[in-house]
Amino acid sequence: MRIGFVGAGKVGTSLAKLLTERGKTVSGFYSRSPISAAEAAQFTNTTHFEDINQLLDASDVLFLTVPDGQIATVYRTLNPNLLVDKIICHCSGALSTAVFEGIEKHGASAFSVHPFVAINSRFESYQQLPHSIFTLESKPIREEHRTSMLSLLHDLDLHVEEIFGESKVAYHGAAVMASNLVLGLLSCAREELVAAGFSEAGANEAILSLASGNLQNACKAAGDPLVEALTGPVQRGDATTVAAHLKAFRGEHREIYRLLSEQLLPLAKKKNELLDDTELVALLSGEEENNK
Ligand SMILES: NC(=O)c1ccc[n+]([C@@H]2O[C@H](COP(=O)([O-])OP(=O)(O)OC[C@H]3O[C@@H](n4cnc5c(N)ncnc54)[C@H](OP(=O)(O)O)[C@@H]3O)[C@@H](O)[C@H]2O)c1
Repeated sequence: MRIGFVGAGKVGTSLAKLLTERGKTVSGFYSRSPISAAEAAQFTNTTHFEDINQLLDASDVLFLTVPDGQIATVYRTLNPNLLVDKIICHCSGALSTAVFEGIEKHGASAFSVHPFVAINSRFESYQQLPHSIFTLESKPIREEHRTSMLSLLHDLDLHVEEIFGESKVAYHGAAVMASNLVLGLLSCAREELVAAGFSEAGANEAILSLASGNLQNACKAAGDPLVEALTGPVQRGDATTVAAHLKAFRGEHREIYRLLSEQLLPLAKKKNELLDDTELVALLSGEEENNK
């Protein structure tokens, strides 16, 4: 299986390097800038092409590792006559295979192969890729294409999760929740600590120590990590403290606290089936607020 890359940036170069390290055949690179393509080819001991369709012709699998906004445009430059029986992939988190419009008419299979990991270096990140999570969303014309892609990714020691194309945007939003939005929450906590008298540096140290301890507990947990790591007033069914917190916060911080505490109720119940959460459910439902 010959694997080519259009877009010699961070993801393309890293994936190609991992593939060559695992003995796979990388046909080469095409990129907007011939210099990028030549650098990536040199790094992976492969070839660079000056014509995208020559690279397509020389590949069984073609990854379009270009920025999301360029995927459809680059796809449209591929010669339809050369697409028969090929596998065309992109690595976007938010886009699905639907971006390869009409690909089945050309007899090619489409995949989105998303690294659930940050890749910040063209020449170093490949070392961190093994054992990371990749998601696969597919529109195969033949089942063998899906099987080949799964075995290719498994040969790279990647942990693969298959997802549905129609869920791609929600999936990407969930990834944002687990990474970027956590920072938004920590920023609210920092504001409250500073308002309570902390220095900003002290607040950073305090919230990072608390948050990383929490994540470490979750990582060590044997059962459901989110249930096992849960502590605090919701887990104890302590409606008095939760009511006091709601009273102390104003505006958006109050609403964020209420909504996220509500999300903890099923976890708290799972942790302690005997928990009497009647008061908490009423307090966190927002009804009291709506009735004011
Ligand atoms: N980096 C991450 O952490 C990460 C994680 C998950 C998914 N992804 C996805 O991976 C894909 C690639 O991202 P990246 O981080 O590798 O981006 P990147 O480092 O900016 O690389 C993109 C490459 O594509 C080339 N390119 C741009 N427009 C082109 C065109 N019209 N034709 C040919 N080549 C073109 C660029 O140009 P030059 O030839 O000028 O260098 C560059 O080498 C995106 O879909 C992104 O959403 C990235």
